[in-house]
Amino acid sequence: MEIEILTAWSDNYIYVIHNGTGSSAAVVDPSMAAPVNNALAELGVTLTHVLITHYHADHIEGCPELRASHSCRVIGPPESRTPYVDNFVTDGESVDLGFTQLRVMGVPGHTENHLAFYSESGKALFTGDAMFVGGCGRVFGDSYSQMWASLKKLRALPDDVRVYCGHDYSVENLEFAAHLDPANSDVTDALAAIRDKSRQGIPTVPSLLSTEKTVNPFLRCEDPAIISAAGVRAGTAEAVFAAIRKMKDRW
Ligand SMILES: [Fe+2]
Repeated sequence: MEIEILTAWSDNYIYVIHNGTGSSAAVVDPSMAAPVNNALAELGVTLTHVLITHYHADHIEGCPELRASHSCRVIGPPESRTPYVDNFVTDGESVDLGFTQLRVMGVPGHTENHLAFYSESGKALFTGDAMFVGGCGRVFGDSYSQMWASLKKLRALPDDVRVYCGHDYSVENLEFAAHLDPANSDVTDALAAIRDKSRQGIPTVPSLLSTEKTVNPFLRCEDPAIISAAGVRAGTAEAVFAAIRKMKDRW
């Protein structure tokens, strides 16, 4: 299984999953059709699946054009606001790409029916806006407990899984992580490495899940350093999560 990283708009990532020239392909969160069409032609692969993590416009805008010009199915969450979806999928289902199976994971919080797609054999996780390199998506409404549960679910996957997220907010996220936990050299080293990549114009994805478990504050809500930064006394990990997420919103 191979993954091409495409960039779109100011900070969106789009992913093409394929198995080499001549294979079928899937695209994750096509916010634009043009870069996807270019990549498909260059790779010599055939688009069969479009995978949508959630309905926000900056994840789906390429769908109508891709759907009109390729014989593909659009697979996404059962959200009434998700236009163009042919097949609704929910937590626990799987999507068969032929060369790999993707497990559908329900990870609500950023939106009510947000999905992640996980390839166990390919050791790759597509998180949309649920989890980012060094961070997590904004929580709309009051779904902090849902979002914390979703992040714990992603955190439970094996360390050697690579994380492919929906946006490049990596530098800003790790700056916030370092602000919360300034004495942690794992965090400051990760920030330096990501700044370096960003300066060179290299994508900041994928990130290893083991690194995320160590440096992403939103996965570390039971860690004394994060609890202390959150200023939540004797609170639950969920309360710590809500406190640092709200802090990040204002940061
Ligand atoms: Fe979003």
